[in-house]
Amino acid sequence: MKKLIVGNWKMNGSLASNEALLQGFQQGLEAQDQSVLVALCASAPYLPQLQQLLGKGPIAWGAQDVSAHESGAYTGEVSAAMLRDFACRYAIVGHSERRQYHGETDEVVAAKAQRALAAGITPIVCVGETLAERDAGQTEAVVKRQLAAVIHTVGHCSSEMVVAYEPVWAIGTGRTATPEQAQVVHHVLRAQVAAATVNADKRVHILYGGSMNAANAASLLAMPDIDGGLIGGASLKVPDFLQIIRAAR
Ligand code: G3P
Repeated sequence: MKKLIVGNWKMNGSLASNEALLQGFQQGLEAQDQSVLVALCASAPYLPQLQQLLGKGPIAWGAQDVSAHESGAYTGEVSAAMLRDFACRYAIVGHSERRQYHGETDEVVAAKAQRALAAGITPIVCVGETLAERDAGQTEAVVKRQLAAVIHTVGHCSSEMVVAYEPVWAIGTGRTATPEQAQVVHHVLRAQVAAATVNADKRVHILYGGSMNAANAASLLAMPDIDGGLIGGASLKVPDFLQIIRAAR
């Protein structure tokens, strides 16, 4: 299975800086074989730009969130149908920053994932523990609870889903989980996914996110249950993001 490398630009970018990044990625990828799936998730206002500049090329694009509602009086929200209008392939759901700053519960995240799937968009379902939860030995319970809510709402683990393990204490901190720490959790998630997957012939990508960078990507991606990365800061730097993609080949 091809590994999947997704850039999460978060609330960063401008029309000009996005164009420069995309040109750098496209030139770099042309020089590499396309044995890695690559996607970029930008803030919603920039989705038309990504659709225009990425077009029919090898890099997919997506959003960083999606509404749990189909349509209606939900000021400021963006529906899955709207994302389809801009040919989004992916939508991140349940990122820890949205759980923290917007109070997104496991149930809301599950509803978002279901909305994305219903619109033919692949949800990237983020799970991960805080440092306090890890120190209390609750890592496995937390990530399994978060993923179980999505599986319960969707009815199974859709092979069209992607799961991302993002230990909260590793996000934006430069303190990356060791490959061994990440593999332990990925193995737990793999078993949970396998037990709930109806389409067993299609492996669900389980990505790692949390300070993955050009220096540590190869050791993380070498782990048997790490199928790619969800990249924040390093996806805003052309050389670094290209190096991570090379490490995924
Ligand atoms: O969604 C990916 C993000 O949370 C990871 O951020 O900057 O630690 O790679 P970063």
